[in-house]
Amino acid sequence: MLEKLEGAKKNLQSDTKAINTLEGAEQLKIKYLGRKGIINDLMKVIPTLSAEKRAAFGQQVNSLKIEITNSIEELIKRLSTEAVPKAKTEIFDVTLPGKRPFIGKSHPLTQTIDDVTEVFARLGFDVAYGPEVESEYYNFEALNIPPDHPSRTDFDTFYIKDDVILRSQTSTVQIRIMERQKPPIRIIAPGRVYRPDTVDARHSFMFHQVEGLLVDEGVSFADLKGVLNQFIKTYFGQNIQMRLRPSFFPFTEPSAEVDISCSICGGKGCSVCSYSGWVEILGAGMVDPNVFKSVHYDAEKYTGFAFGMGVERITMLKHGISDIRLFYENDIRFLSQF
Ligand code: DAH
Repeated sequence: MLEKLEGAKKNLQSDTKAINTLEGAEQLKIKYLGRKGIINDLMKVIPTLSAEKRAAFGQQVNSLKIEITNSIEELIKRLSTEAVPKAKTEIFDVTLPGKRPFIGKSHPLTQTIDDVTEVFARLGFDVAYGPEVESEYYNFEALNIPPDHPSRTDFDTFYIKDDVILRSQTSTVQIRIMERQKPPIRIIAPGRVYRPDTVDARHSFMFHQVEGLLVDEGVSFADLKGVLNQFIKTYFGQNIQMRLRPSFFPFTEPSAEVDISCSICGGKGCSVCSYSGWVEILGAGMVDPNVFKSVHYDAEKYTGFAFGMGVERITMLKHGISDIRLFYENDIRFLSQF
């Protein structure tokens, strides 16, 4: 019994040291002085002792009780005086400006896709999507790209295995839509494309394109020019000029590459436009009759135009961004500027 008493005495010291809150002090009070506490336990022993031991042990328990009561009282007093000045410094000043919540926003490339979509939506175009993992048929064959075309080698296309590739262009969606729908067709198809290019300031192994396709009776090259001109003026600004250069794509005939007057230097000549005053932004043309054949459209009845542009490219030109890698680094200092 004496051991238990001595133990309680010792523990009291370390217990009071370890407590630094008023709640803790209350707990301590219960532990020692509560109904099921240590002192009460010791008290219960007193009547069981022999008469000569009883008096001495009783006294010891009593003085321990006083000691415990005093130290806990002291502890409570100390903690409550400490808490007062702390509470004073924590007074909440309602007139201080609040902390602004961090509000995120769309990635600049998503913003561009949204902007482009809006321009074409006003011209009556729907938005269509296709898979990023594709077959050679949709990426090449149906688009009139012959088996020996250089873009079909694994230098220019990611092959997962034979006939399973990552699409290298969004033109695939042209075929997928025409297979499902009859003309009139008016769609744009934004999405990711993949090419095994070495990453540098202008190239990435993954980037984004927006494809466009319009098929109907009596569609002419003038319609293509009109739609592209409308898009360029709305997206880049009314003072931006457009020009078409003859080009070649297997899925369009005739084909053109479309330039705009350099939005960085205003056409005067700078490093972005290689001092020519013009920058290429997209490829376009009239849908090749062989493409119509793939989807069983009557090429005598229907004509159409298609175009494809790089989302990173037009975003870089619009905002004067010099390195494509900035889009993918997730650096908030860059992203928050848009
Ligand atoms: N798919 C072409 C590319 O990735 C871009 C393109 C050119 C798309 C001409 C078209 C088009 O629809 O008519 O380089």
